[in-house]
Amino acid sequence: MKCQVCRGPAVIDVRRHNANFCPEHFMRLCRDQTQKSIDQFAMLEPGDRVLVAVSGGKDSLAVWDILTELGFAADGFYIGLGIGEYSDASRGYAQRFADERGLTLHVDDLLRDHGFDVPNGSRAAKRAPCSACGLSKRHLFDDAARRGGYDAIVTGHNLDDEAAVLMGNTLHWQVDYLGRQMPHLPAANGFPKKVKPLVRLTERDTAAYCLLRGIDYLVDECPMAAGNKHLSYKAALNDIEVDSPGAKHAFYFGFLDRAAERFAAPTTDTDGAPVTPCERCQAPSSNGVCAFCRLTERATQAVPIEMGRTRRRAKVAS
Ligand code: AMP
Ligand code: FES
Ligand code: ZN
Ligand code: ZN
Repeated sequence: MKCQVCRGPAVIDVRRHNANFCPEHFMRLCRDQTQKSIDQFAMLEPGDRVLVAVSGGKDSLAVWDILTELGFAADGFYIGLGIGEYSDASRGYAQRFADERGLTLHVDDLLRDHGFDVPNGSRAAKRAPCSACGLSKRHLFDDAARRGGYDAIVTGHNLDDEAAVLMGNTLHWQVDYLGRQMPHLPAANGFPKKVKPLVRLTERDTAAYCLLRGIDYLVDECPMAAGNKHLSYKAALNDIEVDSPGAKHAFYFGFLDRAAERFAAPTTDTDGAPVTPCERCQAPSSNGVCAFCRLTERATQAVPIEMGRTRRRAKVAS
């Protein structure tokens, strides 16, 4: 097996490109594909201050590494979700990555800063863990970007993630969601822009990239995600990919190129509804009290919201 670029010994085959690569040229491929997504969707400008949401897993550590290699000033942001040993371990991986490279990692913690964690919060609020978790993460990402004056929030979503979400939205004809499947969401109404620069890379690519770059990441998946429909959509797409290399890419990028516009909806977080500051936390909201403050209230019941806000603000100033 020879590298398609230098003819040296190859260590990985990338079937959707019908090519093999040596370590150096595979890592270059990952960086080039990331830069290509950034350019194609005008995700980031050269001087942008970037906040990378890092979970300690392969995708978010890879995107942080690649953006730094591409010359972006990128800080990390980790949220402790209180999911037992999984959260403790994930924070450790994120922190070690930052420390070893002299990068800045900001850390928020749901329990410390807001009085609830994902398992208890989702139970008290009668929401599925992933739903309470997703809502909290989105709110805290926005909040951290605003407080730190960042231009963009970057997440590690990859091609497998996006194709699986697209498959779910298509199977159920969730036309509102189909209108929001673009890998970039522009800044609007006080929300920072949000981008997914890894949409041209698969999970296999990011795992190989981390291995070759010597990036140590948490291999375990979140224990609360077991049974999540997206996992079965990912498995189905992987089966299709075995017989039709490139099918996943064609499905997702074909949608973006030829169909997404037909479902175009307002591209902001509030679906075009009028936005006012949340009465409790001042975050932009289309609903008096924002969804995160309502979740916090249900999840903490007796804990006054004002306390949570004061604690959070105080921490940010430090
Ligand atoms: P997930 O929703 O777990 O598939 O994660 C999607 C993306 O959200 C990851 O690639 C990260 O960029 C980000 N993310 C997930 N968990 C955390 C966390 N605990 N703290 C910060 N960012 C996270
Ligand atoms: Fe959010 Fe698992 S990471 S529920
Ligand atoms: Zn090579
Ligand atoms: Zn609020």
